[in-house]
Amino acid sequence: MKIAVLCSIVRKEEKLLFDELRSRGVEYEVLDDRELVFNLHHPQYDYDVVLERCVNHSRALYALKVLNDSGVETVNRFDVADVCGNKFSTTMALIREKVPCPKTYLAFTADSAIRAIEELGYPVVLKPAVGSWGRLLSKINDRDAAETILEHKEILGSYHHSIFYIQEYIPKRERDIRSFVVGDETICAIYRYSKHWITNTARGGRAENCPVTDEINRLSLAAARAVGGGVVAIDLFETRNGLQVNEVNYTMEFRNSIETTGINIPAKVIDYLLTVGRQAEQKRLAAK
Ligand SMILES: Nc1ncnc2c1ncn2[C@@H]1O[C@H](COP(=O)(O)OP(=O)(O)O)[C@@H](O)[C@H]1O
Ligand SMILES: [Mg+2]
Repeated sequence: MKIAVLCSIVRKEEKLLFDELRSRGVEYEVLDDRELVFNLHHPQYDYDVVLERCVNHSRALYALKVLNDSGVETVNRFDVADVCGNKFSTTMALIREKVPCPKTYLAFTADSAIRAIEELGYPVVLKPAVGSWGRLLSKINDRDAAETILEHKEILGSYHHSIFYIQEYIPKRERDIRSFVVGDETICAIYRYSKHWITNTARGGRAENCPVTDEINRLSLAAARAVGGGVVAIDLFETRNGLQVNEVNYTMEFRNSIETTGINIPAKVIDYLLTVGRQAEQKRLAAK
């Protein structure tokens, strides 16, 4: 079986994944996205499966598109990355599959965005459709702030920041939940505690083990399925009416969740990768 890992800088996560592959004696190639050149006319990628671990969403998307279109299986697939990398597309997928999620509006101008915000009621959260690590998220508590943020986004931001993704604010008890889905299993979950309303561990949120309840399992699998499945991490909010899915992440970080949960996340990811790779290899051999 021919395996490659597509990445740029090697973070803790990639190191752990490499260690896992090596410990099993699995050979793999590392594809550095900074060095890759794709000849689009002659796609010759001799892999059964490629594990995508790029830091940059755009690089991941383009590379996955080239690979999938030339018949190479990837974890995750292009369509999954495309949906998960964009909060608007993710929300649309969740709504389509009737997975509970926060009320969300979309608007294209400051005036229409104000209307959407006031219909939702303060506070609201504004997010760039494409982004991560809690960056450029705004919690807007009143009209003055709304007008200011919208004006700043329209004038100072690239056009991408004038696609207004507007969401009701979910009051959290200083925590939310991050669950991990690999294939059709919710392998573990953590609480992310923070005094700040943004709980990302990249922003100082503290991870604690969260037992996978039936509800967490059901919603996590439903959210994973809605975006096309694979290896994903789901952000969940606890609300008075049960859990809601905030977003789905497709090249997840997990360094803070292995000891916390006692689950060997890289081992689960590699198990899944090898299963996908084996199926692709069998198909390739059968086609010969
Ligand atoms: N609608 C919301 N209500 C309350 N908190 C939110 C809301 N949206 C985001 N947050 C907080 O901000 C964090 C980051 O938001 P998220 O949508 O997951 O974006 P990112 O891709 O940057 O992680 C969430 O984990 C949560 O703590
Ligand atoms: Mg998130």
